[in-house]
Amino acid sequence: MPAATWAPALQRTAEGALRCVRGTRFPQAFTLPPAPSYPSAMARAAKSKATPLRDVVELTKAQAKVEHKRLALEIEGHNERYYQEDAPTVTDAEYDALRQRLNAIEARFPEFVTADSPSQKVGAAPSGRFKKVPHAVPMLSLDNAFAEEDVRDFVGRIVRFLKLDDDKIGFSAEPKIDGLSMSLRYEGGELVTAATRGDGAVGEDVTANIRTLEDVPQKLKGRNIPDICEVRGEVYMTKKAFLALNERQKAAGDTIFANPRNSAAGSLRQKDPTITASRPLGFFAYAWGQMSAMPEDTQNGMIGWFERCGFKTNPLTKLCHSVEELLAFHHAIEEQRARLDYDIDGVVYKIDRIDWQERLGFVSRTPRWGIAHKFPAERAMTVLRDIEIQVGRTGSFTPVGKLEPVGVGGVIVQNVTLHNEDYIRGIGNKGEVLREGRDIRIGDTVVIQRAGDVIPQVVDVVFDKRPKSAREFHFPKKCPCPLHTDVVREETATGEEGSRARCTGEFACPYQKIEHLKLFVSRRAFDIDGLGEKQLQYFFDEGWVKEPADIFTLEKRNAKLKLEEIEGYGATSVRNLFGAIESRRRIALERFIFALGMRHVGETTALALARGYGSWDAFHDACLKVGKGDEEAIADMDALDQIGDTVIKSIADYFGESHNRGIVERLTKEVEIVDAEKPKSNSAVAGKTVVFTGSLEKMTRDEAKATAERLGAKVSGSVSKKTDLVVAGPGAGSKLADANKHGVKVLTEDEWLKLIAE
Ligand code: IVH
Repeated sequence: MPAATWAPALQRTAEGALRCVRGTRFPQAFTLPPAPSYPSAMARAAKSKATPLRDVVELTKAQAKVEHKRLALEIEGHNERYYQEDAPTVTDAEYDALRQRLNAIEARFPEFVTADSPSQKVGAAPSGRFKKVPHAVPMLSLDNAFAEEDVRDFVGRIVRFLKLDDDKIGFSAEPKIDGLSMSLRYEGGELVTAATRGDGAVGEDVTANIRTLEDVPQKLKGRNIPDICEVRGEVYMTKKAFLALNERQKAAGDTIFANPRNSAAGSLRQKDPTITASRPLGFFAYAWGQMSAMPEDTQNGMIGWFERCGFKTNPLTKLCHSVEELLAFHHAIEEQRARLDYDIDGVVYKIDRIDWQERLGFVSRTPRWGIAHKFPAERAMTVLRDIEIQVGRTGSFTPVGKLEPVGVGGVIVQNVTLHNEDYIRGIGNKGEVLREGRDIRIGDTVVIQRAGDVIPQVVDVVFDKRPKSAREFHFPKKCPCPLHTDVVREETATGEEGSRARCTGEFACPYQKIEHLKLFVSRRAFDIDGLGEKQLQYFFDEGWVKEPADIFTLEKRNAKLKLEEIEGYGATSVRNLFGAIESRRRIALERFIFALGMRHVGETTALALARGYGSWDAFHDACLKVGKGDEEAIADMDALDQIGDTVIKSIADYFGESHNRGIVERLTKEVEIVDAEKPKSNSAVAGKTVVFTGSLEKMTRDEAKATAERLGAKVSGSVSKKTDLVVAGPGAGSKLADANKHGVKVLTEDEWLKLIAE
């Protein structure tokens, strides 16, 4: 048995540490990483109990840095086990002690405070652990626009969707407050619950803390208040209050916050509401969730109603009627930004008419009726220390720049994507010259840019600062995998050489295999607790887990493997691991599809496929046919919402490969795949397959499709014997003929509208 030891508690958190740079990385000298050897968590815990912790003032900066990192990892592990799995492994007191130590280190070395630190995260309360609250109406987010063109496209899409004659639409234009969104539920006019956004579906109950905010009425003012009202808006801290708070925190040796947003979050997520009360937090109301009756029929009307109820709303909010007015608003607010006493990161445009908002609805997790127009990204200058290559799950190579850490907009950035070989040379993906031809060399001073949550990028190289020692980067010509395949450049859609390089080893490439396994066990896929990246790498290196099905046969094979003999693991960890694996044998179809790791099939696409086919058998059957090029199966898949050529090609490639089919077959023998839930609807068309053909006069094709899907119907592009209804407008041709051939019921547009109105 190998003597390698590893720490179960640390595995998940290692993902966090590499947040910007995912995938397997290797330095320029290519060798496969050796089996990892990590100090045992238990050994460490025992040691830290035995040796009194050195006082923070005695730590050197290097020691403090190492300890800070270790504490952050450990705390994150505990948060995850507590919040996500409801299975804490330490007492509250032990947990608090870890956080206090981390805070003390950050107070002494504020430069260790990054946006990633547990002290800065919403999901990391000092000791407060909050009850979960399901949102009656999900709290979703807005799509982003950066350029003027994006705003024009947004308005254009609305005009087309609603089939309007012109673009004179009323919009509520509002500053985008950079705080935390909050949902306040009032019953009979009284505040009953305040919940954070959480994952959008379930938030955390912070009612006691929110009650301490002056801007939040305990009881709604005015008459005829609907019985149930959910008022949503942003909790924020002023810049002045943030600076003063940090001063006090520093003096007291407490958490230093990186920006007002984090400081508002930290202040709210206190177990003791008197601490929240001592922090000056504000609240602007701008949206709503569940309402038993709507008091107004426009966004602007609702803002007026919030004020009458006793809320503050943002005074800069303005009603606009054209794209030009929206852009002028963006410009005017950006000009005032620095003078405002609260942080904003853009402006938000919302369709004013609520009936139009309802017709427009949502695409996936963002509304069609609103958009956030962000301010330009923030930039900073720093030195590029090195370039590493990351091999992704699908074999693609991404060069990652390792930077001299630098703060950009309140976040410390250390890694930057360099996209591909051409980008480093100064060539864009359409062959255009980038940065006036300045290439990127190791040792260069570079300008980096960070926009929202997007991975930072290098936007320029400061030529004057290029040192003599600056080195050109030689992109690898061979994959480091045992096959040493030539690195190929992907083809573009038009068959030309693209800029992304990849290893063609597919599943024979260990980098790709291990990346797929990591995705497979990740929280968004099979979510196997206790099987983090490092354990998985270890099992993989030992040859114990070579493909997903092997995870489910580990327990059976353990008589030979004897995992409990690995130093630092022990019988309990092994039992827990097997328990976690067992509990994941039953899996929802959408998760299963996502876990297969097909290119271009992310969570949203997996959900669309799961909803489209309903069961694994139906989906698998379709994939096998698509893999063989069956035209009818391809047309059916193409007809699904959100599924297009790229996804279909990727599914065809995946299922066209016998090796992949084998992996899937062995895996499906081990697990039980639960059918997808059909969107709940009691409408007359729920569960029906509908085809629209000919020209529609009262709605656009997009609106017709979106409405049908919202009511639980499946919209298909071709008529077959499985079609339930064909809605035919003037000019309908072959599809109408097909409907008659298969005896499918045909409706006019008016008949369809009558049917769905019932
Ligand atoms: S409306 C469907 N209005 O931005 C979501 N959001 O990406 C409707 N935000 O989570 C949100 N100011 O935290 C809206 N005036 C404003 C806002 C605003 C800030 C935040 C909010 C939301 C995020 C959307």
